Amino acid sequence: MSEITLAFDVYGTLIDPYALADELRPQLGEQAETVAAAWRASQLQLSFRRGLMGRYDDFSVCTRHGLDVALAAHAPEIDEATRQAWMAAYARLPAFDEVADALTALGRQGYRRVAFSNGSHDAMRSVLGNAGLLEHFEDLVSVDEIRRFKPDPAVYHHLARRMQSAHDRLWLVSSNNWDVQGARHAGLNAAWIQRDPAALIEDPALAPNCRVVALDELPAALGAHGR
Ligand code: LAC
Repeated sequence: MSEITLAFDVYGTLIDPYALADELRPQLGEQAETVAAAWRASQLQLSFRRGLMGRYDDFSVCTRHGLDVALAAHAPEIDEATRQAWMAAYARLPAFDEVADALTALGRQGYRRVAFSNGSHDAMRSVLGNAGLLEHFEDLVSVDEIRRFKPDPAVYHHLARRMQSAHDRLWLVSSNNWDVQGARHAGLNAAWIQRDPAALIEDPALAPNCRVVALDELPAALGAHGR
């Protein structure tokens, strides 16, 4: 039997985008969490919109425009130099606490591990390198290789081609409910890391193959799945 490949989403799954609140707090005070959440939501919405328009650009453009949208609503006075400093902070975001040990455990169990993101190769290399996670991955796969955004089915099929994997030997591992549904729609397996207790997979036809609340539960969950 061929190996199982685990493809890890980056932002939200391995790396914590909401940690940006710490960066924003000196200027924004108690609004920092609200703006960090609005920034992430806008970034994603803009990538979905660009996907529908067929207007691809590097994901960092969605990130920058998402920041501008969030600040227009909450703190329009923030100047350009500060905005650029916050963009630079995106490359230094921390990993969630349990991630490094969980990746080590999954590697020991013999799973192939790759990172798979809307972020470019440079962005992935920086953020995973700065968080000390790069060594865990045998490859980095970016949607930039085909200039489409998740959850376009094309990006999941591209991942399978790049990994030379059959769809049923390939698992997306993601905290993002829309990413999980995208992978299931394209015929991949998906493990949902439900970091947000209020998040929902609203379409039962696109339910994940397994659900855990943190990455350190994944080795046992995949084992129970007979994988
Ligand atoms: C990723 C973001 C979109 O693909 O979560 O890493």
